[in-house]
Formats: sequence, C-alpha cells, structure tokens
Amino acid sequence: QQLRNEINQSTASTQEELEAYRIKFISRKSVLGELFNEMKNVAPEERKAYGQAVNEVKQLAEDKFRSLIDGLEDSKENTGSKAPIDLTLPPMVNLGTVHPLTIIHNRIVEIFQKIGFNVADGPEIEDDFHNFTALNFPENHPAREMQDTFFIESNPDIALRTHTSSVQIRIMENQKPPFRTLAPGRVYRNEAISARAHCFFHQVEGFFVDKNVGLVDLKQTLYYFAKELFGQDTKVRFRPSYFPFTEPSAEMDISCNICKGKGCNICKYSGWVEILGSGMIDPNVLENCGIDSEEYTGFAFGMGIERIAMLKFQVNDLRLYSENDVRFLNQFKNMS
Ligand code: PHE
Repeated sequence: QQLRNEINQSTASTQEELEAYRIKFISRKSVLGELFNEMKNVAPEERKAYGQAVNEVKQLAEDKFRSLIDGLEDSKENTGSKAPIDLTLPPMVNLGTVHPLTIIHNRIVEIFQKIGFNVADGPEIEDDFHNFTALNFPENHPAREMQDTFFIESNPDIALRTHTSSVQIRIMENQKPPFRTLAPGRVYRNEAISARAHCFFHQVEGFFVDKNVGLVDLKQTLYYFAKELFGQDTKVRFRPSYFPFTEPSAEMDISCNICKGKGCNICKYSGWVEILGSGMIDPNVLENCGIDSEEYTGFAFGMGIERIAMLKFQVNDLRLYSENDVRFLNQFKNMS
C-alpha cells in the first residue's frame, strides 16, 4: 500500500524527474523488480496472491508513467518553450474604428484639397459679430432669436456658433485674398433632439475669393465635388434660396442615391436630396472684412456632414452618431 501511495503522489515537471521515476518504478532494477525477485522466497501456497499483488502495483506504476509523460508534453506546449511563434496571427487586441463622421470629413477634405483648398479652423464659442453681424444678418433676423442659438445668459454677445460661416470672417479679416479655404467643425443649435435634428452637428464650410470669381466657378466646383463624393452618375440641381451673407444664393440637391429615383423616405419620394447651401459672397461681407468688393468676388458653401454620412451609409437616425454604441460603430470597420 505504501508503494501505491508513493506511485500515486509522484510528479514530473522535468525530463530528469520523469527519468528518476522510471528508474525507481519501471526499470529492471526498480523496487518492483526486486519484489519480483523475492518471489522465490515466498512460500508456494502464498505465491499466487503475492504475484497478483505485485502485478497490480506494476500495472499502476506503468499507467502513472504514461500519464506523467503526457503531462510533461502538455506543459511544454503551454509554456511555448519549444512551439514556434506564429507571426502571421492577427493582433488579439480589439482595435477601434474610424467614426463615420470622420470618414466623411476626411473624404470631403481630400476632394477639395485636390483642387487647391487649404483647411482652416475657428472657435466654437463665438461672438455676435463673427457669427451674425459681419455675415450681414439684419438686427432682427429670426436666426438670432433665442430658440435657435445657445447664448451665454450673462453676456448675449457670446454664443456657441450656429454655423461654420463664422470662420469665413475670421480668416478674411486677418489675411489677404486670394482665399481657397475649407473650414470643417462642430456647430450648435437649440433644437429638440430627434432622429432628424440634434443640438450639435458638423459642417464643412468652403469659400473661394479672388479676382473674377463668378457663379460658373461655384457651380463647376460643386458639380466636381458631388460627383467625386457620390459617384460620376450623380445628378445635381441648384434651387434659388436665401442667406444673408450670399447673393445670389442657392441650395444644391443631388439625385437620391438610395432609391435611385424610385422614391424613398430619405428623399421624401421626390428623388432629390438637399446637401448644401451656397452663393456668391455678399459684397457687404467682403467689406466687413476689409476686402475691396470692387476688386474681389467670391463664392461660399456650407454642408452638414451628418446628412451626407446618412446618404452615404444609409443611417436613419442622427442620434446614432453620438451614442458610441459599438454595434453601430463596428459597421464602419475597414472603411476610411
Ligand atoms: N451657413 C449656412 C447654414 O448653416 C450654409 C451656407 C454657407 C450657405 C455658405 C451659403 C454659403 O445653413
């Protein structure tokens, strides 16, 4: 029995320990070998029982030996000491994804950089002059009213910018024309949050000021842009519109790329979706920035990135963009 316990409790974590076990319990010279040799000294009537008992222990020793070999091999694999490292395995960390709004932002910037636009930045906390007054908003214009704009209560001169057109003013008042500038950024409006509206969203502003810039430049630039972003077969149309800072003004629609004219919710069964506002920069705006409007003319445009991403990726609820739900975000893996 003592021998059985000793066998059962044996361990082997190295090749040496395994060999020591083999010599002790398995080899010819092992304790078991000796017990077999004792056989001749056992009385003949007890020999059968003795032999059976020793054989049982021998069987146990051999089974244990096999399991020790297996155990040693497993642990070798686990520590990887002998197993080669597979360099082709993908990294096991869960990488993040590029946000759909960033994907669209980058695409838009890329398209305009190809035709010579640079990128500018401006503050999100603006004063009335840059967000409204310099942009030719009349004193009592409805967009200045409290329901649209987030004002600082103690100082109504300060507000969160309602559009990126404020960056036009920031750049034009500080630098000399010509300008060919893109100004992407976040804007804020005091609106109830729903699938189609949010209190903040993102715009890309663009403006082009030089000598002899005309409506044809505006149209060709925006045709080029729409076809680059939505595909060469995209149709484009301009509708007359009104903005205080452009004259004439136009909104640009593209043919609905979701239903291809068959009618859907996004284009409200019209086949067209509005993607931006634009126009020739009002001479008053240029003068407000110290630019001679007799010498220089320009065009400007502004678009909402959320809307464009909605069209590109068929997102049906604006709120998804800011909820950080990985089930939404993971769908944009491998796009950039
Ligand atoms: N700022 C306008 C808006 O937020 C868009 C626009 C920009 C229109 C530039 C004309 C020119 O709706």
